Amino acid sequence: MSAVLEFLEFIEQPGQQSVRELLDRVLLKAREMTGAEAGSIFIVRKSGKQDWLVANSIQNDAIKLSKADFRIPVVPTSIAGYVASTAETVLIDDLYTIPKNVPFDFDQSFDKATGYRSRSMLAFPLTNFQKKVIGVVQLINRHKGKRKTPAAFDEKQADLILPFNQIVGRVIERADMLEQINKRNKDLRVKNKTLRAQQLQIEELQKDTEEAFMVSIRLLARAAEVHDEDTGNHIIRCNEYAFLMAKKVGMPADFCREISFSAQLHDIGKMSVNSAILTKRGRLDEDERYEMNQHTSYGNQILARSDRLNMAAEIALSHHEQWDGGGYPEGLKGEQIPISARILGIADIYDALRSERAYKPAFSHEKTFQILTVGDDRLDPTQHFEPKLLQVFKENHEEFNQIRKRLED
Ligand code: SIN
Ligand code: FE
Repeated sequence: MSAVLEFLEFIEQPGQQSVRELLDRVLLKAREMTGAEAGSIFIVRKSGKQDWLVANSIQNDAIKLSKADFRIPVVPTSIAGYVASTAETVLIDDLYTIPKNVPFDFDQSFDKATGYRSRSMLAFPLTNFQKKVIGVVQLINRHKGKRKTPAAFDEKQADLILPFNQIVGRVIERADMLEQINKRNKDLRVKNKTLRAQQLQIEELQKDTEEAFMVSIRLLARAAEVHDEDTGNHIIRCNEYAFLMAKKVGMPADFCREISFSAQLHDIGKMSVNSAILTKRGRLDEDERYEMNQHTSYGNQILARSDRLNMAAEIALSHHEQWDGGGYPEGLKGEQIPISARILGIADIYDALRSERAYKPAFSHEKTFQILTVGDDRLDPTQHFEPKLLQVFKENHEEFNQIRKRLED
């Protein structure tokens, strides 16, 4: 078997190996092939603008090593730094007598700390596909036969190692990239989980805010009813008739949803009308009638302050307008009247007719249907209502009755 194949078989263990395990095996094999007593492998890592050599595997058969992670910058003043910078292989006979004409020197601090004596060294680069240096292998103190003093490495050992430095480099790079990708994936999964949790919190908060908004406007609508005959479920029924009508007339979903909570605020302006007028039995005189009709404009002023209540504001202003222009406060005609207000106009009158008043009893659904579609001495439906909406009412009147029955006061 060729040396290269033997080497590959040795390092390519089945199953997943961590990069560190892989490097340990590479170093062990490289030492075995060259007779090195000790050695280390550094991997190049970028941190900011600076490249570093990070020690990944350190072995020494002569002394016990304490586990230590360290890194040195990729600059040619150290041996490993020189090899990484130049991609050259370096052979040194005695590390303590390095000639002065080379840029690097040997750092004796490891020897000083451990009492070990480093002497000969073979240092070579690990390169990837693009021949870029991705690591450095240092082999130290070659032992030959029974000699006590380590021998020098020579070209033969260097030649033995060099053919597979690229192969090893590729294997290591592949494993290293896989490990980095896995780590990044794991980080991303953790981040995703955190993001999802935050999103749920935001959704929960939005739901709470929406609920608070709905409660507030319901209370506002109720507050406006204190002096009114229309207590009980009138405002809720108005929401439902308006929603039903909007849907049947083919309005978009957003519109239908909005009218379903905006309708209840149509008489909010009554808050600003003198309560003596609101509670007066008998006919209102001209001034009183004028003031009463102002509930439309008052309501609009109150609601126009919130963007969320734009539709409610237009309903409040225009729900007493009539199709022929005979309504108030502006005497708008036909499609000048917002569709939301046209819808509520029918809904409001349907419910008023079904309810008891000081001057009239509550009418049955049949009687109310008769008044709204044919008319009586007080109401001419062709003047009051948009024909299309009246048609929709005619086709769905039973559902109005159902809402009224379900939400009876
Ligand atoms: C009125 O009696 O004119 C007020 C009708 C209403 O807005 O409910
Ligand atoms: Fe009104």
